[in-house]
Amino acid sequence: GGDSTVSITVVGASGDLAKKKIFPALFALFYEDCLPEHFTVFGYARSKMTDEELRTMVSKTLTCRIDKRENCSEKMDQFLKRCFYHSGQYDSKEHFTELDKKLKEHEGGRVSNRLFYLSIPPNIFVDAVRCASSSASSTNGWTRVIVEKPFGRDSESSAALTRNLKEYLEEDQIFRIDHYLGKELVENLSVLRFSNLIFEPLWSRQYIRNVQLIFSEDFGTEGRGGYFDHYGIIRDIMQNHLLQILALFAMETPVSLDAEDIRNEKVKVLRSMKPLQLEDVVIGQYKSHARGGISYPGYTDDKTVPKDSLTPTFAAAALFIDNARWDGVPFLMKAGKALNTKRAEIRVQFRHVPGNLYNRSFGTDLDRATNELVIRVQPDEAIYLKINNKVPGLGMRLDRSNLNLHYAARYSKEIPDAYERLLLDAIEGERRLFIRSDELDAAWALFSPALKELEEKKIIPEYYPYGSRGPVGAHYLAARYNVRWGDLG
Ligand code: BG6
Repeated sequence: GGDSTVSITVVGASGDLAKKKIFPALFALFYEDCLPEHFTVFGYARSKMTDEELRTMVSKTLTCRIDKRENCSEKMDQFLKRCFYHSGQYDSKEHFTELDKKLKEHEGGRVSNRLFYLSIPPNIFVDAVRCASSSASSTNGWTRVIVEKPFGRDSESSAALTRNLKEYLEEDQIFRIDHYLGKELVENLSVLRFSNLIFEPLWSRQYIRNVQLIFSEDFGTEGRGGYFDHYGIIRDIMQNHLLQILALFAMETPVSLDAEDIRNEKVKVLRSMKPLQLEDVVIGQYKSHARGGISYPGYTDDKTVPKDSLTPTFAAAALFIDNARWDGVPFLMKAGKALNTKRAEIRVQFRHVPGNLYNRSFGTDLDRATNELVIRVQPDEAIYLKINNKVPGLGMRLDRSNLNLHYAARYSKEIPDAYERLLLDAIEGERRLFIRSDELDAAWALFSPALKELEEKKIIPEYYPYGSRGPVGAHYLAARYNVRWGDLG
């Protein structure tokens, strides 16, 4: 409204995430006229910088995503004029008090709403929250804090972090980001399920054989080995991104689309799951590989990674939900760095058609003749359904064809970055896409025991060449449950 303001403080403003995602997302929101009339963006970090220097830094990563509309550079200038910088320590109440003073000047006596985005290493989260909340909270509007993973590295450390944050903030002030929840096709999952008659009735053990959640990247951890080595792929991708997708996929119908109703269902399904068993996980680590005259480094070639590190850069896991809907259905996850392709997708493999009249037309490979629904989260967003179809002609031959909803062909509007949606939601106080603390606890409870065992027993990862399809162990794991990975054809 006209008499309230929103100040967004990016704490850790010169970090990678801030430069690559947060500032560009804020600009995109500004460009689309989604930000309130009175808003200010503050960068906060330790290094000395002037407002102008921050603007120069930020301007390097702003893009006019939406075509090359003529007014783009004008809009950029307008946006940059709203950006300021304050240099301070993350654990100094004094420095946050100085920030508070500057924020007040910008607010000019209006109702003040303040959003802090903590884009800093986890070991200083709590200090920053303590100082920001005691010295720079709004006195007449709301104060919210966005935090990003890692939220600890197991159940205990995560619970400790939650406890510490709650000394200074109420749960409803904490916005825990899992940026996969901001992705268009993940948001669409519930629409697909709950607004189409042809899917929801099939969404159970009765018709679904298995569900696969696949994440792969075609680059390694170069440049962030220090962070990565402390966490590994299970904590980096599975415990959050893939598990969140699983929860949305498998939850019961929520009472409404309200944040609490949705999160109640997500936490319920997570709590119905069995903790991951050691025999249901395969880990891998990439090693150097030369291809086409280029030599790609192995994981431990990174100077910030110990030479003898056993940290997994790949993992495959089988998980189960002990409830009436999903009893016995394997949910297979696969996540890896330095693989042959960059992709994130959900694959739903349906059961065989009972008494299928056409069985003979498929030969012996009946598995290949079952329906499969693929939700390609990225890149090149798509939803397609593999169906069996008669090959046109006089004979009776069947093949598999795709009913294909290909976003690029169907929609001309560009898909917003996940951070745009999440930032807008945080500003508007919409909590649906943020992780509640009980969800976080439930998520850790599933992975903590197996992680502990892997580390205590010093399980050796299966080595795979940079740029390959990953360890064969993933196939054996899937085969134990009669599953074939859909992404490998
Ligand atoms: C982050 C992980 O959460 O997600 C990274 O820490 C990973 O390791 C990234 O590369 C992937 O996100 P996106 O949106 O590029 O698929």
